[in-house]
Amino acid sequence: MKRALFGLEFIAGVLAIVVAAVVVGSTLGSATLVRAAIEKARSDSAASSNQPQLSALVAHGQKLFAVNCSHCHADDATGDEGPDLHGLTKSDERIKGIITNGIKGEMPAFGKKLQEADKDALLGFLRSLK
Ligand code: HEC
Repeated sequence: MKRALFGLEFIAGVLAIVVAAVVVGSTLGSATLVRAAIEKARSDSAASSNQPQLSALVAHGQKLFAVNCSHCHADDATGDEGPDLHGLTKSDERIKGIITNGIKGEMPAFGKKLQEADKDALLGFLRSLK
């Protein structure tokens, strides 16, 4: 009788260990889920925190445009001596090429005057024009 009781206790003990393992396992599992959610939230907010960075780039581009380009393309880039720059269909590379090399007899080259980052900012500004 005593032996049988011990057997039952043993089984109960094993069961307790199994239950504990399942509980711990699922807690770890949900901890992983929580961590995944935090990662996602973090990357989402990283994406939205690109927004102010982008508008800072556009604002910088707008300043450069006012100094270098607006006397030909107008302050709002709707065109004057140079054409309207809204809705450009040329590729980023082409536009940066035009800024760098100018257009013979039409538009001066800015390759010596503007850094790569300035051209990126100008491009960002031009792309922000709808
Ligand atoms: C001296 C006047 C002048 C200045 C300054 C000038 N541009 Fe131009 N730009 C022109 C003219 C004129 C054209 C059109 C040439 C043509 O179509 O043959 C042109 C064309 C362009 C084009 C091509 C537009 C298209 O539809 O293909 C881009 C882009 C451009 N300019 C950007 C700029 C930027 C950015 C600046 C300042 C960094 C600038 N321009 C400064 C006169 C100017």
